[in-house]
Amino acid sequence: MMKDGSLNELLLLLLSKKGNYVSGEEISEKLGVSRTAVWKQVNHLRKLGYEIDSVPRVGYCLKKSPDLLLPEEIIQSSRLEFLARKIYYYPSIGSTNDEAKKLAQNGAPHGTLVIAEEQTGGKGRLGRRWVSPPREGIWLSIILRPSLEPYEAPRITMTCAVAAAKAIRKVAGIDCWIKWPNDLLVEGKKVAGILTEMSADMDSINFVVTGIGVNVNNTDFPAEIKETATSLKLVSGKNVGRLKILTEFLSQFEVVYRYLEDGEFGKVLEEWRQLSCNLGRRVRIIGRNYELEGLALDVDDDGALLVKTDGGTVERVLSGDVSL
Ligand code: BTN
Repeated sequence: MMKDGSLNELLLLLLSKKGNYVSGEEISEKLGVSRTAVWKQVNHLRKLGYEIDSVPRVGYCLKKSPDLLLPEEIIQSSRLEFLARKIYYYPSIGSTNDEAKKLAQNGAPHGTLVIAEEQTGGKGRLGRRWVSPPREGIWLSIILRPSLEPYEAPRITMTCAVAAAKAIRKVAGIDCWIKWPNDLLVEGKKVAGILTEMSADMDSINFVVTGIGVNVNNTDFPAEIKETATSLKLVSGKNVGRLKILTEFLSQFEVVYRYLEDGEFGKVLEEWRQLSCNLGRRVRIIGRNYELEGLALDVDDDGALLVKTDGGTVERVLSGDVSL
């Protein structure tokens, strides 16, 4: 993306002809800039890691992309209807959720995507931090203006979890599970987390910001999460394309989000149940001021976990962490 927020037309053109040569003349005509300006922009892209061949009197050919999550790449490789019609991209930012909330307050439309290569103040649930090193994972937030009641907002988190688990399974071929309320696990370790924040009054939602962090190619984690966190690379033993996971996630999200908006949340719930690693198992839930143990029976429309305690009662748990 250019500094002023507009799209890099040269990158869009080269991406649309990836693997083929485009003459300098054609580029300068289409972009309305001089051949020297084209050459300068090509060098700028090379500095970002794009491998671009140039053959005198033939032209330029994009051979390889550096797996950056640039808006041009997202636009080129996905067919989306409402998501990511507007994209805010940052090489580095504090937190995409915080930025998205600011943008939403200033009227950013439904579906706006805020994405960063690095977060220096990534936020997790319950005031925790979310480690977001440069170019290793996917750190994004989506601004949504749903026609739901405020109490129905947890459905958005569930929808997001389903979309992300499906994308990881499809692209990386890895068994990814949803751990209630909104963690994604692979081989029992956390690979992604979701943080949904909302601005609402008593009976209507102004906007929702749903943020997700996916550890894609991380190879190391700080001591405090080393035992509990993993990445797709650590599990599969190879680099996983961030852009592929991202674009698959966005298209899955559009599909499941539509069910949610069309009053068919039951379909999302069914997929959530299939992907859950808790249902039918013993769970210990640690909440802010309670602890509970029992059998996880089901999850309901509001995202509450129904737990049958050893005393035989069924408790409806709305928040907490599962530790078993
Ligand atoms: C959790 O599991 O505790 C939730 C983690 C959410 C992390 C994502 S990364 C993108 C977005 N921006 C943030 O600051 N947090 C979310």
